[in-house]
Amino acid sequence: MNDRAADVYTFGTTPDAAHRLALLADLFAPPTRDLLARCVPPDAARPVRHAVDLGCGPGHTTRLLHAATGAARTTGVERSAEFLALARRELSDGGSEGGSDDGSDGVTYVEADATRAPLPVDPADVVHARFLLTHLAAPVEALRTWAGALADGGRLVLHEVAALDSADPVLHRYYGLVADLQRHHGQALDIGDRLGALGAAAGLTVEHAAVVAWQPDTARMAALHVINLRTWRHDPYITGSTDPADLDALDAGLVEIARGRPCAPVEQSLGEAVLTL
Ligand SMILES: C[S@@+](CC[C@H](N)C(=O)[O-])C[C@H]1O[C@@H](n2cnc3c(N)ncnc32)[C@H](O)[C@@H]1O
Repeated sequence: MNDRAADVYTFGTTPDAAHRLALLADLFAPPTRDLLARCVPPDAARPVRHAVDLGCGPGHTTRLLHAATGAARTTGVERSAEFLALARRELSDGGSEGGSDDGSDGVTYVEADATRAPLPVDPADVVHARFLLTHLAAPVEALRTWAGALADGGRLVLHEVAALDSADPVLHRYYGLVADLQRHHGQALDIGDRLGALGAAAGLTVEHAAVVAWQPDTARMAALHVINLRTWRHDPYITGSTDPADLDALDAGLVEIARGRPCAPVEQSLGEAVLTL
């Protein structure tokens, strides 16, 4: 157990934030599914008995991980009680936790801070975290904690943003502000560009590390961003450093892009890594 202050999650846990995560889950399911298919392919000789999804939010990645790995059991770990309630409701809509008939059989959730060791989960063959490390101020320490949840031969699979920009001035300004906000909280928007180095610093074996370019749909990205802006614009760092009129203009610009204003593409790359003990 460490006594560091809890990390600030700047993107919120409100119903709007949950809606944003649902949109994000749809948009990013293909690259994450592809990563899991390449790095944790279903293998009868190496079945996944237990998978863990850290920072699981309302459970979109947990269900994806469970289906993609064919895990017998999957545990989502999340700090937000609000998101966990949604995740559990999704399960109960298809049955009861651990007993649904929608492909989520064996999925359960636990409320915990994923940076606090030891994690309250059984040893796992796969520990997965998407877009969580970017919100943590002590990523190497976090990786050590996560590695502590691996069973013998287990794999830690990470998926994070490595770069995010656009030549469009509205999107460029938005990404600059998010990067500043993260930096203010000791976090890094582009942490995905150094997952291998972070894994090595945590004393882990880097089985795989890569940065993969992809161009997400610009209107869908702007729709996500405007929801996020309306959350993090209330962060004291932003209210103290940015003119509200600028934020209003940014909001209006993002709405226009979300509605289809032609603009320069979003240039994004995603970092991926598989780490082992
Ligand atoms: C950007 S969301 C990603 C959700 C999901 N993994 C996905 O990719 O759709 C980050 C999630 O991590 C959670 N989170 C942030 N810090 C956490 C911590 N220290 N422990 C557990 N969960 C945390 C947030 O509440 C949020 O649900």
